[in-house]
Amino acid sequence: MKIAILAGDGIGPEITEEAVKVLKAVGDFEFEQALIGGVAFDKYGEHFPEETRKICENADAVLFGSVGGPVASKEAKWQGCETNSILALRKAFSFYANLRPVKLYKGLPCVLKDEIVEKGVDILCVRELLSCIYFGEHKTENGRASDVMQYTEDEVRAIARIAFEAAMKRSKKVTSVDKANVLDCSKLWRKVVEEVAKDYSECEFEHVLVDNMAMQIIKRPYDFDVLLMPNMFGDIISDEASVLSSSLGMLPSASLNKDGFGLYEPSGGSAPDIAGRGAANPIGQILSAAMMLKYSFNMHKEHDAIVAAVDMAIADGYRTADIAEKEHTFVSTDVMGDAIVKYINL
Ligand code: IPM
Ligand code: MG
Repeated sequence: MKIAILAGDGIGPEITEEAVKVLKAVGDFEFEQALIGGVAFDKYGEHFPEETRKICENADAVLFGSVGGPVASKEAKWQGCETNSILALRKAFSFYANLRPVKLYKGLPCVLKDEIVEKGVDILCVRELLSCIYFGEHKTENGRASDVMQYTEDEVRAIARIAFEAAMKRSKKVTSVDKANVLDCSKLWRKVVEEVAKDYSECEFEHVLVDNMAMQIIKRPYDFDVLLMPNMFGDIISDEASVLSSSLGMLPSASLNKDGFGLYEPSGGSAPDIAGRGAANPIGQILSAAMMLKYSFNMHKEHDAIVAAVDMAIADGYRTADIAEKEHTFVSTDVMGDAIVKYINL
């Protein structure tokens, strides 16, 4: 199995190195590196060069780190970097279904009250990834800017099916998130999701408005199973949900197309402020690699072994700075990776 490695910018290379270490511990894979984002711009003058596209095309799965630099930077290489690299990559391979599992880790600092933590959290964010306001026309003209939000019935139907299918294998509950009290896109979303829901009568199903969702996910996270979300709401709510797992650095993701080809990346960004210091949490990327084993390679045993190793490393007190409380000493990115490798038991 061939894996394209697109480590990218910021903390991307450090966390990806740890994920590759973990993959090597559970199987025999071929890795091929390719440039994306600012580092690709440095070499090719573009963020998503043809050579990188070819390497992805020839791979069985893609492991992606992160792209982008400081938001305020005026440097040419950071202008449009996210749009030209990760969004272009998602578009190029039609990765429409983004899965972000959120769970609660006992022992990690959490903003939730103890009585909520006790009830547990196990949520799968299912985010539509190829439409919405991200891919409508963006325009700035004569002091006026606009970004067009759009959805087709087919796009909504496809992602809704993914959510219901996933829920059927979990706790059989789908919560669809929209803003149907204001937006036409959300009214269409709601109508189509209701049609799809009819095919899954065993599955509990509800609509929640996105502003209310932002509140409910903190007040009663234990009540949710699968969250079905349009692109932008999914982007926002999944970052919020990550605090339930203690840190955005813990959150993995899988982006899949209709043929099952997948790109795996942590849900967080390039974090240029902490890059290159060994301070980043590699767990989100290591769990993304585990998702690759499950969704792209059908290697469930190896997936489970990595997830268990992460749990054990945490239970034994290994903490990167983002998930540490005062009594713990932090470990660096690579020490965390080594610890997880040590706990892998196949
Ligand atoms: C994510 C990120 C991206 C997104 C950015 C980097 C364009 O925030 O994957 O959640 O908004 O999709
Ligand atoms: Mg995001």
